Amino acid sequence: MRLSTKTYHYWTGLVLAVFILVHLANHLVALWSVAAHVATMTALRQAYRHPVLETGLLLAVTGQVFSGLRLYWRGRREPWRPLAERLQMYSGLYLAFFLLVHTAAVLTGRAWFGLDTNLYFAAAGINTFPYNLFFIPYYFLAVTAVFLHLASLHYQKGRSIWGEKSARRQAVVVGGTGVLLALLILVAMTNRLQGLPIPASYLRALGN
Ligand code: HEM
Repeated sequence: MRLSTKTYHYWTGLVLAVFILVHLANHLVALWSVAAHVATMTALRQAYRHPVLETGLLLAVTGQVFSGLRLYWRGRREPWRPLAERLQMYSGLYLAFFLLVHTAAVLTGRAWFGLDTNLYFAAAGINTFPYNLFFIPYYFLAVTAVFLHLASLHYQKGRSIWGEKSARRQAVVVGGTGVLLALLILVAMTNRLQGLPIPASYLRALGN
């Protein structure tokens, strides 16, 4: 049986959504303390760094990106699209870029620089000028894009179930949650906006 690109995109997206929600919750824990964040990540790694699960996750990332790009390419000539579809398309394109760059950076950090790719790995760029001019919007848009992608999908599917008005309200709540979460994670990663001291090995990997 040959799976359609849409089916492939749906299932790899579902696998990734579970990982991403847990992953973002892990970053939120840094609001309490870096130690709590690292302890949670160490526990979670027991699962997602298991060779079978990590291979599945990396295959899901690759499958999600390429099936998404294929769907975009096929529909790119359609003349006019409603806002929800455009939001889904543009958030998806950003996620394709982010997923490829972010996953490659993590794997390179581990294999090439021999770093423990914990909170400091991501926080190095967020807390160091001028790299933060890139990394703050890069992470903010990533978290927002995940929720906008889900919100636009929820609206399109939910219209026939809850009606136009209610589906739109729910989608705005989902999108708004993404913006709030993105801001909270940045607050957490910057030691509540006071700046997080970064160990030298992570700054070296950044080129400092
Ligand atoms: C502010 C937001 C984010 C930060 C600071 C962040 C940071 C990190 C860090 C430090 C790792 C390494 C984890 C480890 O070594 O155990 C990682 C892995 C990863 N992240 Fe993120 N991430 C963020 C958002 C996202 C989003 C939105 C996605 C997906 C759209 C994502 C997908 C992944 C994936 C697929 C991995 C690789 C997991 C693996 O194979 O070990 N991340 N991220």
